[in-house]
Amino acid sequence: MAKKKVLSGTRPTGPLHLGHLEGILRNWAELQDEYDCSYFIADLHYLTDRSDTGRLQDYIRDVAIDLLSVGIDPQRSTLFVQSHIPEHYQLHLLLSMITSVSWLERCPIYKEQVKELGLGETVGYGMLGYPVLMATDIVIHDADYVPIGEDQLPHLEMAREIVRRFNNTYGAVLIEPQALLTPVKRLLGTDRRKMSKSYGNAIYLKDSPQQIRNMVATMITDPKRPRKEDVGHPEECNVFSYHRIYNSARNEGIAADCKTAKLGCKECKGELADAIIEELAPIKAKRSKLEEDHDYVKDVLATGDARARQVASATLKRVMTAMRL
Ligand code: TRP
Ligand code: SF4
Repeated sequence: MAKKKVLSGTRPTGPLHLGHLEGILRNWAELQDEYDCSYFIADLHYLTDRSDTGRLQDYIRDVAIDLLSVGIDPQRSTLFVQSHIPEHYQLHLLLSMITSVSWLERCPIYKEQVKELGLGETVGYGMLGYPVLMATDIVIHDADYVPIGEDQLPHLEMAREIVRRFNNTYGAVLIEPQALLTPVKRLLGTDRRKMSKSYGNAIYLKDSPQQIRNMVATMITDPKRPRKEDVGHPEECNVFSYHRIYNSARNEGIAADCKTAKLGCKECKGELADAIIEELAPIKAKRSKLEEDHDYVKDVLATGDARARQVASATLKRVMTAMRL
């Protein structure tokens, strides 16, 4: 029996960090065992809120290297760049014809972004239409399942809505995708906000040991433990939530020593930095090899583009036939 298809993408807004690793990448790598997976770099979506494309090509390459370093295997999975598949642009237009503006305006992610960026009247069509392009990405590759974080669920719902309307109008042509929610270990940034490049609170997969030590040193600890002599509350400490993931063999000992004030925060952070550095070592080793092999990364993407394009053009043909174009 043919394997079910999984597809997901990430925007190339910069190098990937531990939040990405725990939130999506480990899951993407694992899904390769069971599914026919496609993963792509959403450079068109990058343009939604950014016009600065000066370093875009570097970012794309960086993300590709990050994905390969964490174990996305180009022998098993299709790794491609969204803008290299012109059929995405074409199907996006066709799907926009059956998408209600009121659906898009009601999308909570859209509403929040307009508010957060203070866009008001200046909001662009690209931002409003973000879910149409995302629906295109999904259906054009015949994806059955879409592994995403919970934050992206409204977008997936919209994709399903668009598929239903298309199929009702023109016949059963598109697959209605389902979300594959990642059983995520929630990892906050060093300041306890969501880990994000724009907050400057992220630890990157490509960081050097010294950079990792510096970032860990800045982490906010248990706010109820101002002095080393005070007892700590590990379950309220962000550093401890990292220990759970990266130092699991020792996390009970650490909790006990924290609660009895035997362990100081500085020492605790030192141990965490060591554990993260160790965890990232194999990923970094792969990365340095890939960074030297410019042609290999290019070839992987070119092969992925070609494979993805075959599926995309077949879907577009099906759609055009159904619409009698
Ligand atoms: N919107 C997704 C994000 O910001 C990226 C994305 C674009 C995507 N197209 C997609 C994810 C299609 C899954 C499927 O994370
Ligand atoms: Fe947090 Fe570690 Fe300090 Fe305890 S010892 S409060 S777990 S940093």
